[in-house]
Amino acid sequence: MSAVKMDGKALSAKVRGSILAETEKLKAQGITPGLAVIIVGNDPASEIYVRNKEKACVECGFYSEKYALPEETTEEQLLGLIAQLNESPQISGILCQMPVPKHISEQAVIDAIDPRKDVDAFHPVNVGKIMVGNFDFVPCTPAGVMELLEEYKIDPKGKECVVIGRSNIVGKPMSMLLLHKHGTVTICHSRTKDLAEVCRRADILVAAVGKAGFVTPDMVKEGAVVIDVGINRNAEGKVCGDVDAAVLDKASFMTPVPGGAGPMTITMLMKNTLKAAKVQRGISE
Ligand code: GUN
Repeated sequence: MSAVKMDGKALSAKVRGSILAETEKLKAQGITPGLAVIIVGNDPASEIYVRNKEKACVECGFYSEKYALPEETTEEQLLGLIAQLNESPQISGILCQMPVPKHISEQAVIDAIDPRKDVDAFHPVNVGKIMVGNFDFVPCTPAGVMELLEEYKIDPKGKECVVIGRSNIVGKPMSMLLLHKHGTVTICHSRTKDLAEVCRRADILVAAVGKAGFVTPDMVKEGAVVIDVGINRNAEGKVCGDVDAAVLDKASFMTPVPGGAGPMTITMLMKNTLKAAKVQRGISE
């Protein structure tokens, strides 16, 4: 068997199209969703991500502001900018690209963003809401995975779902979203005993490890759905995921890297920004 490749690029284009249509309607009512993106320092990967976020804003008809701050920016200066953006009526969503330089506390940055403008859903208020199951913003990477599952009519209900990785950005919220959809969820990590055996139980296996080729065919049940959230570079410098290509012959569905979960992440950021603009003006649908 060769797995169906789940096309995140195509789904992303479709969702961005519907976001643009909704934005046009909002604009007719005098509302323009606005996203502020902050980047501190010159991390090359972060610069690419931020550029793609600006491009996505244009595609969705949003207003955007970009703040590229030097490496030596102090925490006080950064928190000052965030306080200003919290008050700005043009700005619906605020995103500070992580990682920030070591002398700035990541948690202080997350805590400073108004939870109503926290389109990353990193603020403890939003994290708590996700846990409870009553939330406006969904963390972008897990949200993109859920949209892909829905598009391919894969229902987690009653299924064994195994998530490898327990990060605050991906692993933990991913597990919660699968649980809300009635999956039986196991979270694995570097201290998990018999990892391969646990993974082989999975009907839906999500790899969010950050190691090229980490998931090998012996860890995958025949016919499983395999979601690869990893973005790594292999020895030849080529972008690749956490899942070995040979898994394609065992899985029923699989997300390619690039072109699977990745493109959906930024699209979900746009969806959260649109939602923020609406919620801030009391529009519920
Ligand atoms: N760095 C890597 N992924 C992300 C993300 O989803 N949001 C932010 N703010 N920074 C990141």
